[in-house]
Amino acid sequence: MSKKFFASDNCSGIHPQIMQAIMEANTGHVKGYGYDNYTISAEQEFKRLFGNDIEVFFVYSGTGANVLGLQACLHPFEAVICSDMAHIHTDETGAPERNLMSKLIPLKSVNGKISVDQISEVLVGRGVEHHAQPKVISLTQSTEYGTLYQPSEIKAFGDFCKKEDLYLHLDGARISNASAALGMSPREFVRESGVDVMSFGGTKNGMMMGEAVVFFKPELAKYMKFQRKQGMQLFSKMRFISAQFSAFFKDDLWLNLAKHSNNLAQHLAKSLREIEGVQITQPVDVNAVFAIFPQGVSEQLAEEFPFYVWNEALNEVRLMCSWDTEINDIEVFIERAKQLCDGVETVN
Ligand SMILES: Cc1ncc(COP(=O)(O)O)c(C=O)c1O
Repeated sequence: MSKKFFASDNCSGIHPQIMQAIMEANTGHVKGYGYDNYTISAEQEFKRLFGNDIEVFFVYSGTGANVLGLQACLHPFEAVICSDMAHIHTDETGAPERNLMSKLIPLKSVNGKISVDQISEVLVGRGVEHHAQPKVISLTQSTEYGTLYQPSEIKAFGDFCKKEDLYLHLDGARISNASAALGMSPREFVRESGVDVMSFGGTKNGMMMGEAVVFFKPELAKYMKFQRKQGMQLFSKMRFISAQFSAFFKDDLWLNLAKHSNNLAQHLAKSLREIEGVQITQPVDVNAVFAIFPQGVSEQLAEEFPFYVWNEALNEVRLMCSWDTEINDIEVFIERAKQLCDGVETVN
């Protein structure tokens, strides 16, 4: 059995039940572009989760979902407030700026999170034509640092947005992990906390590909079918994303897979804490562990069990567990980390 990677939860493959659903959808002809029963069923699953009065659009990628969700809320002269760690700011190659033609206003984050108290400092020049007009706050749940906003924290943003005539966007590429960790339906901590539009991730939690843009203010979705096509996110063979989402929700597969990867991250963090010289740098709320290894160790470990350096200045690395990471994978990794940290082997 080959070693597992810890680089990302997209290093894993496709869950067998998802693959099975793709194969079952692979019979006969149906209409393209979402005009098929697989898509109607998958939309129904989202309505069961969030309520009937939503609009949902399936797309290929998380970047695409974020850009489209934001596009629905913005004119190009309006701006998005986000954390300085936000995927939209750090990891989307400027796709939001290029496609929205809008300014992102990053705020300094702590453990990947921003707080509502920071917003007022950038809500300046409203109504003045020389300033980009803040219109959206974007949060990521779970965050890029593997931490969680508590529902009350999201609600504080939701209330603030209502008061200040802003929209609240949520990047939920790892919403399953957040839901599993909070033990709460996203209806509660997303919709009922005041989020207007979210990206709902599938790819990082066992799907082959597929994300959804979910609107809790359906009027925001007025032009989305055109925006999705123009934004190159409309899949002609849509049934193969839709069938995946139906399998994802069946018997709580999405939550069970997320619980599994979250639990393994806890196990990984606990084992790492027992190794002298290893420092865990962030709270471990979901399926990511951030750590600093003694000089020279992480380079060797990353050769054997690929993972990324997150903060080069600190030599902080990110280790992610996937739906298919097993206890044994963690144990093999920990054994090797111990060896290297004990200096049992010369590090090249
Ligand atoms: C927080 C977050 N948002 C969005 C994405 C979506 O990315 P992609 O466009 O690669 O599907 C990712 C993927 O790494 C992510 O970590």
